[in-house]
Amino acid sequence: MMDIYEKRRRRAIARIAGLPAVKVLFVCLGNICRSPAAHGVMQAIVDAHGDSALWHIDSAGTGDYHTGDLPDRRMRVHAQRRGYSLTHRARQVRETDFDDFDLIVPMDASNDRNLMRLAPSTELAEKIVPMAAWIDICTRYDHVPDPYYEGAEGFELVLDLLENACNRLFDDIEREKKAPAENK
Ligand code: 4NP
Repeated sequence: MMDIYEKRRRRAIARIAGLPAVKVLFVCLGNICRSPAAHGVMQAIVDAHGDSALWHIDSAGTGDYHTGDLPDRRMRVHAQRRGYSLTHRARQVRETDFDDFDLIVPMDASNDRNLMRLAPSTELAEKIVPMAAWIDICTRYDHVPDPYYEGAEGFELVLDLLENACNRLFDDIEREKKAPAENK
């Protein structure tokens, strides 16, 4: 658990637990590697263990270079080997995402800063919690590293970190929904 994000995580999770549905937006730079993979991993966890009618999951990029594109072929290949089919089409983050989603999850500090700038108010900015808040393997990572200029191991690392974080995010929300007081 990344202590630097603990306060932001707690505040966001406490708010989400009181809502009827969970609407999560994963964000990276291009929306073709990390965030669509997070989206696919989270959807698989919800489909297997949760009530998919109560979860709305999406992803977006802070940049618009890849709008309309499928995820990067390398990301799709590595994800498919673990059973995740990534079919998302890239889109850029928009201001209305801050109304449409309850939790906005940047992959790294640069995505975090860009989202903070884009947030229409400080209250809405509290919806932003970096993915590293839920990483507890490879604790030297305070972010999910961009695999774009890396080899196969970069994509495998991203999937390892995302599986860890998505499972812990799912458990975090489910636990808070069942027993809100315990986590306060
Ligand atoms: P992502 O990776 O942010 O994980 O989707 C990247 C994809 C494309 C670029 C940068 C990062 N790019 O510069 O085109």
